[in-house]
Amino acid sequence: MALIPVELAGRSYEVHVGSGLVERAGELAKSFLRKAVVPVVADANAWAAHGERLTTALDSAGHSVALYEVPPGEGSKSWTELAKLTDWMLAQGVERGDHVLALGGGVVGDLTGFACSILKRGCGFVQIPTTLLAQVDSSVGGKTAINTAAGKNLIGAFHQPSLVLADTDCLATLPPRELRAGYAEVLKYGVLGDRKFFDWLGDNGQAVLSLDEATVEQAVATSVAAKARIVAEDERETSGTRALLNLGHTFGHALEAETGFSDRLLHGEGVALGMVLAARYSARRGEISDSNAEKVAAAVNDAGLPAAISTLGLTCSGRDLADHMLHDKKMDAGTLPFILLRSIGAAFLAKDVALEDVAEFLDEQLQAH
Ligand code: GLY
Repeated sequence: MALIPVELAGRSYEVHVGSGLVERAGELAKSFLRKAVVPVVADANAWAAHGERLTTALDSAGHSVALYEVPPGEGSKSWTELAKLTDWMLAQGVERGDHVLALGGGVVGDLTGFACSILKRGCGFVQIPTTLLAQVDSSVGGKTAINTAAGKNLIGAFHQPSLVLADTDCLATLPPRELRAGYAEVLKYGVLGDRKFFDWLGDNGQAVLSLDEATVEQAVATSVAAKARIVAEDERETSGTRALLNLGHTFGHALEAETGFSDRLLHGEGVALGMVLAARYSARRGEISDSNAEKVAAAVNDAGLPAAISTLGLTCSGRDLADHMLHDKKMDAGTLPFILLRSIGAAFLAKDVALEDVAEFLDEQLQAH
């Protein structure tokens, strides 16, 4: 098992990574559970898969569960679900000093974290992420949010969890496509800041995807440690360091918007293809060599993720995709910062990117085979 501290003045916490953590949840979360009945907010699928183990773990620590099930899917990150959840938490008598457990992927973590940030001006929560994407990204770092008609994650708060239990056993119940989509975020840490990790994934990526216990634990722990370092340095994304975590997201978000935020392109798949586009666009600007950009594309392709925009069968233009970027929440005084690459393992924030140039590049990519 790996234990990774997230060091934040007054709000530090630990992320446990490894096998069998759900079974130990009662013991590991002991200091945060003040009452006999523990409020648990769970994705309905995650509860079906892991609820019994969690109930037994809490029971053996002397607690029973009050369960709130969240319907699976991005649609649950809504005002309606937030209102229902906060009403339920109030009915349960949750107080500021209490902790709510969030069991599931990014949707449940983001929704519960945001509900906890506003309940009685803030109560605690413990994340038990059950997807690879949530384990390596959304459960760590305190970004919480819901979606609105104007876009994804536009209403939210920074609210750090008190503890994260990333049980790698939970990954065994994920559909393979969802596991691969989560792997895109693992690969991202190598591409943006750690060449050695990128090379290690080149040798061990298939073992991660086939859930070899020791390898997957190392991949998740290395990813979490990278995120913890970045969050400790720039918790509120003000210095530019945390923005590096958005590598692949600006291109990816435009593709997700064009495909209607649907099953045609999962978020992680959009990030994977977005990373390839960021690498190729960096090469077009002469920042990174073509061969290194193609190494990023090969790593994405080897993981069974989309590495070419032409595979999506889009009928739009580069301009249409660039137009989606105009609504990006990172837009700052009329310019959109892009995360580009100087080499594999060295991402940087570019504030001089013209969207016309991006549109032209995307037209080339849409036509390439
Ligand atoms: N998911 C990006 C971040 O936490 O900053």
